[in-house]
Amino acid sequence: MAKWSSIVAIVSLTVFLMSVMAATVLPIHPYLKVEDTFISKLYDTSNYGFLQIDNGLARTPQMGWSTWNFFACNINETVIKETADALISTGLASLGYTYVNIDDCWSRSTRNLKGEMIPDPKTFPSGIKALADYVHSKGLKLGVYSDAGIFTCQVRPGSLFQEKNDAELWASWGVDYLKYDNCYNLGLPPQKRYPPMRDALNDTGRTIFYALCEWGIDDPAKWAGKIGNSWRTTDDINDTWISMTTIADINNKWASYAGPGGWNDPDMLEVGNGGMNYHEYKGHFSIWALMKAPLIIGCDVRNITADTLKILSNKEVIAVDQDPLGVQGRRVYASGPDGCQQVWAGPLSRNRLAMVLWNRCSNAATITVKWSAIGLEPSISVSMRDLWKHEVISENTVGSFSARVNAHGCEMYILTPRRATRSSV
Ligand SMILES: *[C@@H]1O[C@H](CO)[C@@H](O)[C@H](O)[C@H]1NC(C)=O
Ligand SMILES: *[C@@H]1O[C@H](CO)[C@@H](O)[C@H](O)[C@H]1NC(C)=O
Ligand SMILES: *[C@@H]1O[C@H](CO)[C@@H](O)[C@H](O)[C@H]1NC(C)=O
Ligand SMILES: *[C@@H]1O[C@H](CO)[C@@H](O)[C@H](O)[C@H]1NC(C)=O
Repeated sequence: MAKWSSIVAIVSLTVFLMSVMAATVLPIHPYLKVEDTFISKLYDTSNYGFLQIDNGLARTPQMGWSTWNFFACNINETVIKETADALISTGLASLGYTYVNIDDCWSRSTRNLKGEMIPDPKTFPSGIKALADYVHSKGLKLGVYSDAGIFTCQVRPGSLFQEKNDAELWASWGVDYLKYDNCYNLGLPPQKRYPPMRDALNDTGRTIFYALCEWGIDDPAKWAGKIGNSWRTTDDINDTWISMTTIADINNKWASYAGPGGWNDPDMLEVGNGGMNYHEYKGHFSIWALMKAPLIIGCDVRNITADTLKILSNKEVIAVDQDPLGVQGRRVYASGPDGCQQVWAGPLSRNRLAMVLWNRCSNAATITVKWSAIGLEPSISVSMRDLWKHEVISENTVGSFSARVNAHGCEMYILTPRRATRSSV
């Protein structure tokens, strides 16, 4: 038995790897006609990067919290400790939000005489190592921030040309994650500035998540898979509907490049920061999860509201983001004025599909999706689970599905085909 299962495992791994190298769409789903050019375009995974940077991380998108979206530069060791505590007490940590990331402004504005970065003595008097120890004692991980330029965006020391020493220092403190920004870059191409830090982090021997923040300028999806575990595809998000939707659309273009080991990053979550309403934040979170985006909370977790917690702790939506197949979902259909009634979908493990009906119109609307639009044969019968109602809403939907969706709201489902009509199953 043991022998057979290892042979099966080797054969399926080989088939999988060959398909990654050769095909334009993974043979992931018996109900999708992968030989059909429409569907292979629909769910194109031709650049799916299975563990291109082999540091053992990012098999699913990273989850955690970062200082930037709520606190910007107004940070200190107290607020970070209190947030680590709050991630535990709210239950968010146990749902997978484990990286506690300090963004810009942790470092003093000049290096010391030895050329080392030093934590700002006013705001981080105990130092980063003490903070890492604290965060680790809670079972969480600590992230820091630097820049592939001579300064960070807030004009603290950058790490360009100092990669090796900086990486060694962070590793000696017990740092687990680096966000690496793009300010003051001397006009040097990112393909030259980002790999030295990958190598420096690797040389420390400590496992450190490497998140590139190049703002999408040089189409990082095309080259960053061999360099980092995630790469920003867009300019910074801000806490508005227009920013969030614009960013979703840009990130969507790069769907075929995401996969285990390396993810498109449409920037951190604004859920809970007050600039959007409940429906808009629910759509923000649902679409980020469907797109296999990093889920990095950006609000003040110490003072989180029940509505915000309800969104961020939706286990079923998180499970779509963290699905082991790791194929980025995408916009597959749009109708209505300016295409504001949208269907976003993507394959999941165990032959399922995730689907979001996203109403970007300013009035409530009924959105209808035909099976052909999401790549299913019309005759396939589907069981539908609503991920916001937390219930199966139909055991047997065939051909199409319709739902009423709030203005700027969304509904999200997992579709499980009930029977095969094809011999390939
Ligand atoms: C630490 O930062 C928080 C958030 O900005 C602030 O409310 C608090 O007053 C700061 N504490 C100290 C000691 O500076
Ligand atoms: C360093 O890179 C090698 C080759 O990709 C990889 O096998 C190893 O796990 C990496 N080590 C760390 C600490 O990231
Ligand atoms: C927020 O983002 C939108 C869209 O990218 C942009 O037009 C706007 O200027 C930004 N607002 C701020 C305050 O940065
Ligand atoms: C906590 O959040 C409420 C709104 O939800 C806000 O009015 C209050 O100022 C916040 N408190 C702090 C300390 O940020």
